[in-house]
Amino acid sequence: MSDKPALDKHIARILIDPEAIQKRIAELGQQISNDYKGEELVVVCILKGAFLFTSDLCRNITLPQKLDFMAVSSYGHSTRSSGIVRIEKDLSESIEDKHVLIVEDIIDSGLTMSYLLKILGDRKPASIKICVLCNKPANQQQFVHIDYCGFKLEDEFVVGYGLDFRGYLRNLPYIGVVKPEYAE
Ligand code: IMP
Ligand code: MG
Repeated sequence: MSDKPALDKHIARILIDPEAIQKRIAELGQQISNDYKGEELVVVCILKGAFLFTSDLCRNITLPQKLDFMAVSSYGHSTRSSGIVRIEKDLSESIEDKHVLIVEDIIDSGLTMSYLLKILGDRKPASIKICVLCNKPANQQQFVHIDYCGFKLEDEFVVGYGLDFRGYLRNLPYIGVVKPEYAE
């Protein structure tokens, strides 16, 4: 029997397998731990897409840290950003004078992240940086400086490892491309 994950019927191909994801997260964790040496962090997981990424990343960050969650939605049921970002769940603690690391699944147009940076930046954190699992620079409408990036991707719709298509497929252990007949 193969030890490769079974390919879901909605997936055309696997872009990043589970081992490559974990290897990159270990590198990111080490880099973040070095960069913030001697400091304490507030890791802000952007729900729902970043839930798996955050859970693996925070275990690779060897710093005192608190974890908080924020849920935003910008997409509705389309595969393109609407540009309208809605806060569905806010942080549970103040970030004033804290070093904040925003952890997000993916940056596409950049609209969601620039909005998040604005509203969290207004709360007077000591610093604010972002860590994204994936960046799709081809479609960027709003420039966002990305401090830590897992993978740079082409402009195609991806799912798995937290990323969804209409709420489904977040549980796939790899990052893959949806078959065009489903993605339309
Ligand atoms: P942006 O505002 O266009 O940068 O979109 C960011 C949000 O859209 C992310 O937080 C994701 O939830 C979602 N998104 C963008 N591209 C993809 C994709 O390829 N697969 C799944 N979700 C995506
Ligand atoms: Mg998201």
